[in-house]
Amino acid sequence: MFMKKVLNSNWVGAVLTILLRLAIRTRILSDEMLKKWLVLTEERYGGFIKGVKRRKISPRDPRPHEALYRVGEQGGDRMAFHGYARKYAEYLTSILLNYILNDRQITIVEIGILKGTGLAIWDGLFPKGRLIGLDIDLSYIVENMGFLKGRGAFKGKKPELYEFDQYLDNSHYMGRILNGDGIDICVDDGVHTAETILLTLKSMMPYLSKQFVYFVEDNPDVHEQIRKRYPRLNVENAGELTIITRF
Ligand SMILES: C[S@@+](CC[C@H](N)C(=O)[O-])C[C@H]1O[C@@H](n2cnc3c(N)ncnc32)[C@H](O)[C@@H]1O
Repeated sequence: MFMKKVLNSNWVGAVLTILLRLAIRTRILSDEMLKKWLVLTEERYGGFIKGVKRRKISPRDPRPHEALYRVGEQGGDRMAFHGYARKYAEYLTSILLNYILNDRQITIVEIGILKGTGLAIWDGLFPKGRLIGLDIDLSYIVENMGFLKGRGAFKGKKPELYEFDQYLDNSHYMGRILNGDGIDICVDDGVHTAETILLTLKSMMPYLSKQFVYFVEDNPDVHEQIRKRYPRLNVENAGELTIITRF
């Protein structure tokens, strides 16, 4: 309990981030270091939560709405609970080195943001990056913004937030949002069904940068359909996580 309090305190978070930046600048950043930072930072921005009462469900969502309202949403579970930190670190280390050392511009899109734990983590990694959060219901992150800022997030700038329904083809909508920018990192942590994952990937496809990484969470099978539809892309499956890249 005491240790958790210390780890979650703002100054420890700030020190961890300074150490991360130092490791990047001196090029000693390793996947293992980044993995630890990702786990600790997720915890600091709220960590694992479940049973968050749903307030809005897409009218196009074919799953029984009553059951969805009963179960609620879960978040802050990417790095520690699901154990995706190792894979995230593996893919993000080189992007992070390239971004910081070459002062590169970067655009990160997360679909399904709930209270914004993920967006706060991406902000810590890419403080000057363009952060775009998409969700059917933005009320959770709006309410949680004070907490995230109090823990040190979004000091440079606030993330851009847009209402977004994964059951729609959002290709034109994304074009308007991105306004000429390409997507370098995309994270789909929304509905998790094959239908929505494939439709969202289709909507993002015209805007993915020449080199990108696209994480699809919490679906163990969809990688097969992605491989079939996009044979030119690299698709790695690691349990319930799928990572699509073009490098
Ligand atoms: C697993 S939670 C996201 C957790 C979050 N990424 C985090 O880091 O804590 C799933 C999110 O998907 C959103 N969602 C549900 N249906 C959606 C839809 N049709 N389109 C877009 N987002 C949806 C929910 O509102 C919820 O915020």
